[in-house]
Amino acid sequence: MIDTHIHIDEEAYAADREEVIARQREAGVEAMIVPGVNAKSIDGILDVCHRHKGYCFPALGFHPQDVFPEDYKQQWVIIEQAIRAHRDEIVAIGEIGLDYHYDTTYKEGQQEIFQLQLDLAKELDLPIMIHNRDATEDTLRILKANTPLRGVVHCFNGSKEVAKQILDLGMYLGIGGVLTFKNCKLFETLEVVPLGRIVLETDGPYLAPTPHRGERNESRLMIFVVQRLAEIYQTTPEEVIKVTSKNAKKLFFT
Ligand code: NI
Repeated sequence: MIDTHIHIDEEAYAADREEVIARQREAGVEAMIVPGVNAKSIDGILDVCHRHKGYCFPALGFHPQDVFPEDYKQQWVIIEQAIRAHRDEIVAIGEIGLDYHYDTTYKEGQQEIFQLQLDLAKELDLPIMIHNRDATEDTLRILKANTPLRGVVHCFNGSKEVAKQILDLGMYLGIGGVLTFKNCKLFETLEVVPLGRIVLETDGPYLAPTPHRGERNESRLMIFVVQRLAEIYQTTPEEVIKVTSKNAKKLFFT
């Protein structure tokens, strides 16, 4: 299994980070990608990825929820510089996108930073890792205006209609613990999504799958997502792991 999105640098793992990483290796997790969110997060991400070279892979980016009017321009200078300086070791620009969930007062700044990062991904030929929350219409509009694209919509939980549009853009869908939640209708959406376009993720420390919902998430718990995908695609967990790992390698490691 490859975890394409885990915030292993975050505070939730501070007390036992090394043990957590060792446990994932033992459980058969092949690799993890650690996404960036703001300027402050850069050093911690690079540090853990340097200590676990070849196992933890950094992405760097400016998360829309961290875009604030008072300092986003200064933050962007730092983040852009770091992305350019570490071009050869980062596996994606992310997470980037739009988030209107808590705050819709600064849509303009979020969109400006999103566009700058799409331009940079194109210039540096890096895949993108998209975060979209309550901003599907604007996210799709901006993505469509920036084709061709290579990347993933992380933590996807949308409709068939939205899934089709993302697939048409050539992008992958990141599927995690949400799929296992009671009342989650994502399995219906997956009717139009080939397994060949899915990558696994945790979004840890958040969104641990059932039966560990509410606990701190770890990559090894993706096995519950794998089992659910195997049911949905009427195949074996081994096949789900094989295909999703191949997808992740193709997208991020080639
Ligand atoms: Ni995330």
